[in-house]
Amino acid sequence: MTDDTPSHEPALGAATPGPAVVSTRADLRDALSAWTLSGPEPTDRRAVVMTMGALHDGHLELVRRAREEAGPTGQVVVTIFVNPLQFGAGEDLEKYPRDLDGDVALLAGVGADLVFAPTPDVVYPDGDPVVRVSAGRIGEVLEGAFRPGHLDGVLTVVLKLLQLTRPDVALFGQKDAQQLLAVRRMARDLDLPVEVVGVPTRREDDGLAMSSRNAYLSASERTSALALSQALAGGSREAAAGRGVGAVLATASGILNAAPDVVVDYLALVDPATVEEVPAEHTGDALLLVAARVGSTRLIDNQAVDVAPPQEGDAAGQEAHRD
Ligand code: PAF
Repeated sequence: MTDDTPSHEPALGAATPGPAVVSTRADLRDALSAWTLSGPEPTDRRAVVMTMGALHDGHLELVRRAREEAGPTGQVVVTIFVNPLQFGAGEDLEKYPRDLDGDVALLAGVGADLVFAPTPDVVYPDGDPVVRVSAGRIGEVLEGAFRPGHLDGVLTVVLKLLQLTRPDVALFGQKDAQQLLAVRRMARDLDLPVEVVGVPTRREDDGLAMSSRNAYLSASERTSALALSQALAGGSREAAAGRGVGAVLATASGILNAAPDVVVDYLALVDPATVEEVPAEHTGDALLLVAARVGSTRLIDNQAVDVAPPQEGDAAGQEAHRD
């Protein structure tokens, strides 16, 4: 790089400019129009990352990726909104961690241009919406069975936020695999003019998937919570070794059941395109999904697995396939 090469990196010691923060529809409209009127390059895009705040490095990774998708002079918009519609009775809506100032400070370092942080009456000016999006069958199984209406609430707010922010591309974490699938299907089934991009799960060094809800865990629960990623890794090894669907689930469930304070809601090996459970004789791509309560904290995680066919002469593997 020469001295006159323009650089998008901040100069050493220079303060990184933080994102603008807006909370009303009018201010959001103005900030979106200002970017459009600034004459972006034809290849520049607007990228949106939707969050409920309490940001961690998993969210920041989504924003970094959004910056790449948007282009250097594209617009990266982050929404921060704890959506009441996706919480069931008795869930953690009231105690869900909220720290807007802390979130905005974190976003300053990763290339966000604009934060939209509305209150519920801005998003739902007429109260609870009468017309909502249905996730259909995707919203009834797994997460949907344990959190009825949850995915409908997610899709309804995602559609509203897409309408309000009008992005070219929207990025979602793969940790919420069922949510990502539901959003993808909504975009396809309803012809939404947005590209949906899934971003791999960020993990702590010991494998725990990053989640805002990890903050609820006590030290001993934090240790027990490792059983989720370990179960996925154990199941994935069985899959790669050609031991079949039964062995994948048995190994993963053994690891979960051995961990103190872990109560499994579901453990399932599913078709990634439908989240329906795969048959016992399935080989090929699948998604191993787990949801469990660790103490009073509910965590989810998942891992893509490739179920190899039974190895020639591997009696144990073939036996497991027959089970
Ligand atoms: O994944 C989340 O944080 C939420 O479900 C989302 C997509 C922001 C909708 O409220």
